[in-house]
Parts: sequence; structure tokens; C-alpha cells
Amino acid sequence: MNLERRFPCITYMETAAKRRIPRFAWDYMAGGIGREKVLAENIERLDRVKLTPRYLADDANAPDTSHELFGVDYNAPFGVAPLGLSGLIWPCAAEHLARAAKTHQIPFALSGFATSSIEQIGGIGGNTWYQHYATIDRDINSDLLKRAQAAGFEVLVVTVDIPTATRRDRDIRNGLSVPPEFNLRTLFDIAKHPAWALAMLGQGVPEFLNFKPYLPQNISLAELGVHLQKLIDCHVSLTQLQWYRQQWPGKLIVKGILDTDEAIACVEVGADAIAVSNHGGRQLDAAENVLEVLPRIRAAVGADFPLLADGGIRNGLDIARYLASGADFVLLGRAFMFALGALGALGAGHAMNVLQSELRASMGQLGCPQIHRLPEFLTRVC
Ligand SMILES: Cc1cc2nc3c(=O)[nH]c(=O)nc-3n(C[C@H](O)[C@H](O)[C@H](O)COP(=O)(O)O)c2cc1C
Repeated sequence: MNLERRFPCITYMETAAKRRIPRFAWDYMAGGIGREKVLAENIERLDRVKLTPRYLADDANAPDTSHELFGVDYNAPFGVAPLGLSGLIWPCAAEHLARAAKTHQIPFALSGFATSSIEQIGGIGGNTWYQHYATIDRDINSDLLKRAQAAGFEVLVVTVDIPTATRRDRDIRNGLSVPPEFNLRTLFDIAKHPAWALAMLGQGVPEFLNFKPYLPQNISLAELGVHLQKLIDCHVSLTQLQWYRQQWPGKLIVKGILDTDEAIACVEVGADAIAVSNHGGRQLDAAENVLEVLPRIRAAVGADFPLLADGGIRNGLDIARYLASGADFVLLGRAFMFALGALGALGAGHAMNVLQSELRASMGQLGCPQIHRLPEFLTRVC
């Protein structure tokens, strides 16, 4: 199959994924919270970022997408965002993405709620980041960090924007819970998507493998769900953030910050970077837009403090738009999930190729030779 020809951009992969995977899996991945206003705005707001091309410079025709973060030279200024339950979209999604990220020399962030374990991803190597979701038990939190460190993860991402259990209407209607409450409609949905169903048969039911060692063994799925719910408490206070800083010797990113004062607090606690994010419109349907808050947060933390950003990125030009607007690095979530849903394992590397080549082409059109110079091309925000 000529991948480039059939899937020249993420949009084609999105359409194919929607056809290929069951509705409940699509809804979980593509959907947002509430009336999905923030989800839509993430994309609309990006479209309104305008850049001015300049054609006459001597060095304009050989754009270089490589970029440094935390002393690591990456091939491109983007990475794979943490994605919980990614194994629902395609079996071993996290492993496919981690392998492709290693090949492409970009970072891969493993979600605490991943369906692949810390040890499985550590075995792949590459530039892996571990995204931690807190449990109520400090010993378990400490053990998870030790496991991540032992498995070679270099960066800890602490996500702070899930202070309480999330209510997403599509997931409630689809019975997507632990354990899943599937009915005839769901089974019919699965039957209508044989490629996905067959691939899933090989894997079995996706599990939250990272938490498995801390849960009682040999109990029913229903009992497991109850235990898991009792164990997880994703709320992270400033005191807890201080504790994570003391525990983790490597780089620390705080993900999900939108408030200037909280950004300053993260810097004071000793975070190495902040990921400015509204969680892809999945947590609060009145959350501020990242592009709107980015200049304020940049002014508060200073020019040299690394700021990551995410939300709504679907192509290389969107990456350029975020970087031109003041982000040092970006993360993509759904774009990679669409690719896996459409193409399975092949999708991971293909999406990375497409995004990097679109970014290079956009920089070429702008006349921008290097990533760090993109802000020079930001002209007008309507
Ligand atoms: C299916 C799905 C699962 C996610 N799971 C997590 C997670 O476990 N941890 C986390 O910090 N963010 C999670 N996110 C948010 C992403 O890391 C990222 O912030 C978001 O996807 C960016 O928006 P985008 O999907 O438009 O690129 C998830 C997003 C999606 C779409």
C-alpha cells in the first residue's frame, strides 16, 4: 500500500479510523467533555493563527526541524502526548507509538492509565516520559516512580487537570466504565468492525497494567473496578507536587496548567517545564484556550523556561503555529490515535513522517530555517 498516497495527512486517517473502529472506542478517543465546545475551539483557534512568509532571505530554502529540549536533540519539536486506554483504539497502541517515536527520535509519553506497562515500554527504549496519575497511597506512588526510573524513563509528567472524576456523556451512554457495561448495541457495534475485533481478539481485554500489581489478584472484573476506583485519586496539590519533585531525580513536567499563578508556583516548586493544556477539551468545557493563555504564562515564567503546549494539532502547520505563538515544544494526542485506528501499527510511524514533512514544508513556505525562529513569523492573531 502506498501510504503517502492513500493517507497524505491526518484528516484521511481520521476518516478511515472512524469507519474502522467501533463507535464506543471512537467516542472515547475523539470526544470531549460537555457540549465539546473546548474541543472544537482548540481547532478553530489554531486556524486563526496567521503567519507571514518571507521569501527573500538567503537561508530560507533548507528548513531544519530538529530541536532541543532538556539537552536532548530531537528530530522534530513534537512528541506523543500521554494517552490512557490507547489499547482500546488498537492493540498495543502504546508499544507501536513508542517504537516509532524511538525510530523518529521524538519523545513518547506513557500514560499512567496506559494499557501497556512501564516495563514493556521501558524495554523498547528511546526517549520515554512517564506520565503519572496519583493513587491515594504514597507507597504506591513512590513504587510507580521507582519502576519508571528503573525502566529508564527520563522525564516525569505529573498531570494535574483531573482533580475529580471525569463525566463524559458519550462514554456514559456507551457504558464505557471499569468494568465495561456492554449491551446488545455494543456487541453489534463490535461485530460491524471485524478488522478491529480480530486485532483485539489477539490482545484480549485491555487492562490498566501499571496498577495491576497493587490490586487483588483473581477477582472478578466488577470487583477490580471497585478496587481501582478506590485506589486512584488524580488530584495533585502543591504539597504533593513538592513531594514528586523530591522523589524524582530527572526532569519534571507539570501538565494541565492554564493559570498564570499556578505556572509560577510550578516554577517555584522546581518543575523543569510546564505543559500548557486543556487536556484536548476532555475535562472542563469552559476551559481557556491554550493559545490565549500562552502569552500570559510566557510573560510570567520568563523567556527561557520551557513551555510545552497541546490541543487541536492535526498537521505540521498547526505545530508551527503553536511554536510561533510561544511554545517550545508540542504534544499531539488524537492525531496519533487516528493514525493507529486507520492503519494499526503502521499508522504510528506514518503519522510522524507526515507531520514532520508537513512541518518542514510549512517552514519552507514561511522562509523559516530553524524551529527557534518561528516566532519571528507570527503576525496577526484575529
Ligand atoms: C483518548 C485520550 C486519552 C488521554 N489520556 C490522557 C492521560 O492518560 N493522561 C494525560 O495527561 N492526558 C491524556 N489525554 C490528553 C492528551 O495527553 C493531550 O493533552 C490531548 O490529547 C491534546 O489534544 P489533542 O488530542 O487535540 O492533540 C488524553 C487524550 C485523549 C484523546
